[in-house]
Amino acid sequence: MTDEILQLMMNRNATMTEDAMRKYYTEDEDLRVLLDAERYSLFAGGKRIRPFLTLEFCRLFGGDDAAALPFACAVEMIHTYSLIHDDLPCMDNDDLRRGKPTNHKVYGESTALLAGDALLTGAFEAAASNVAAGAEISAKAVAYLASCAGRYGMVGGQIMDLEGEKKKLTLDALLRLHSLKTGALISASSVLGALAAGVSFSDPRMEDVVTYAENIGLAFQIVDDILDQTGNAEELGKNVGVDTVHEKNTFLSFYSIEEAQFYADRLTHDAIAALRKYPESETLCALAEWLATRKK
Ligand code: IPE
Ligand code: IPE
Ligand code: MG
Ligand code: MG
Ligand code: MG
Repeated sequence: MTDEILQLMMNRNATMTEDAMRKYYTEDEDLRVLLDAERYSLFAGGKRIRPFLTLEFCRLFGGDDAAALPFACAVEMIHTYSLIHDDLPCMDNDDLRRGKPTNHKVYGESTALLAGDALLTGAFEAAASNVAAGAEISAKAVAYLASCAGRYGMVGGQIMDLEGEKKKLTLDALLRLHSLKTGALISASSVLGALAAGVSFSDPRMEDVVTYAENIGLAFQIVDDILDQTGNAEELGKNVGVDTVHEKNTFLSFYSIEEAQFYADRLTHDAIAALRKYPESETLCALAEWLATRKK
């Protein structure tokens, strides 16, 4: 698959997700500041990798887009909430995100905090109300999403990241941190797509989904660490060099840029190997390759 075709598919999936996410908002004058703050970050662009995974895994296993779409919206809402909170002064204290001033820079810290809270709860409302997938699949999806987003998932990874600013982690601890803070939601995005297509947790195909997702998830955060040093703020839409300022434990605390890239490439190779037996996996394989070489 050429890069142009992948980009077209990414744009198409992003537009589908954005159109669906817009429907969760009805105007309410009393809540205008909250709704504006949520939508400021939610519709600020972003690569929309997580909903892409949900939609494409559902398609890979012959499911309907309608069953995947509420899950795709849910993972993007959780991701956006995590970015708003990640940028707060009490966390990474960043002032640029998705090419715009961060949420708290525009709306203030308390509104940014609440915008994140509302996106998080709204995500679960969207996933639990997935009529097209049905009640049984939705319940399983909600439980899995919660476990990946919460204390033993993304939130757990974020505390390891913050605590790590005060000490040097071992490589094993860093691998766990990266798998939790970034990998867990990428796994949830992929698994929810498969669930939407009717693939159950006991189905051997689910193992391949998880293998792919865990590998691209870790590779994704390694590349994020590399781009913090080699990237360009304009292209990335966020400031660079901030990991060094905060003395974060990153892959570059252990490896050179070349070694870290080699590590990410190996994970990408393993991800692709897990899906190669599926005739329609070309799009997901192309995505994995693009993620390893991305500049944004
Ligand atoms: C940034 O995620 C935060 C990490 C998990 C590294 P993305 O790079 O997917 O951010 P957007 O959605 O494209 O803005
Ligand atoms: C954040 O990791 C992961 C999240 C759960 C948001 P980073 O702190 O490295 O993400 P960026 O670099 O600010 O996007
Ligand atoms: Mg962070
Ligand atoms: Mg950050
Ligand atoms: Mg980063």
